[in-house]
Amino acid sequence: MPSSHRSQGSGSSRPIRPRRLRRGQTLRDMVADVRLTPDDLILPLFVGQMDQARSVSSMPGVSQWPVTDAVRTIRDLSSAGLRQFILFGVTPWEKKDAAGSYAADPDAPVNRTLAAVRDAGLDVVMYADLCFCEYTDHGHCGVLIEGDHDQWVVDNDATLEYLGRAAVAQARAGADIVAPSGMMDGMVGAIRAALDADGRIETGILSYSVKFASDFYGPFREAGEGGMSFGSRRGYQMDYRRGREWQIELEIDLAEGADMVMVKPAASYLDVIAKVREACSVPVAAYHVSGEYAMLHAAAERGWLDLRAAAVETTTAIKRAGADLILSYFAPRLIEWL
Ligand code: PBG
Repeated sequence: MPSSHRSQGSGSSRPIRPRRLRRGQTLRDMVADVRLTPDDLILPLFVGQMDQARSVSSMPGVSQWPVTDAVRTIRDLSSAGLRQFILFGVTPWEKKDAAGSYAADPDAPVNRTLAAVRDAGLDVVMYADLCFCEYTDHGHCGVLIEGDHDQWVVDNDATLEYLGRAAVAQARAGADIVAPSGMMDGMVGAIRAALDADGRIETGILSYSVKFASDFYGPFREAGEGGMSFGSRRGYQMDYRRGREWQIELEIDLAEGADMVMVKPAASYLDVIAKVREACSVPVAAYHVSGEYAMLHAAAERGWLDLRAAAVETTTAIKRAGADLILSYFAPRLIEWL
């Protein structure tokens, strides 16, 4: 420790006393350098064809919405100050197939919701999650091909074509930004080419560039009804034991034209968020995922922690790590709590 920090005998004359700036709430507020605001937040919404909203049991406060309710929710929340939303589709079983082709249908709930939000003229930024697991009958994030040892694997290059088609449908419906989350190699380039060929040069791409295969996605699979009928996603999502691979994924996506990048999950991956932030100058998003949301609720229900304090602390930590944008199911509560 430098000598200037050491006690000068009486203890009253230490030149640097960090506690000086912790005296009183107002002073603490004035010196805080990380501040969460509503514009940092993106709310994920699940839209489907059900007659009425259905709550998701593992995610308190989260529902699957029919299109009209989703549009009303977006309108209400935007008047309350929340201005960014990302849509996920809930697909009835009879609309699912091996290729997830319903994702590109203008009648699919995500596309209808986008169109309705644009018709209503709401001043919001609309993102569309772009993946097939909520649309395929096998629940994987792309079309399958028989690989070695009689095992089915996701056919990377064949999936790129389908991604292009679904992206164009989302852009035509009114998405400002499409957000591919399937971790296919070359997905950003293929989507950029398909959008440009359709004249959608203004539609942006938020790539789920650094997405780990995570147990924390568990509750989402109930919400999105996109669980797998066999296998796992470890063949395409990243292995959390590899601490440097994010650099490769980031480089590829930036070279292919990603306008924004994402790290997912968030709370257990703050180190990765910080490194990605340092390594690039596009906006960095982080996804505080379903399991991270659910576990705070579960502990709070038992009285083991305070939900509001823990949610604000965790979300602020994600911002402090370097996230410019945070996808969070807490967003509607956070805009009241901040
Ligand atoms: C689909 C997708 C998933 C999530 C977002 N997009 C699930 C998965 O990859 O299995 C998870 C989000 C969450 O857990 O909140 N590819």
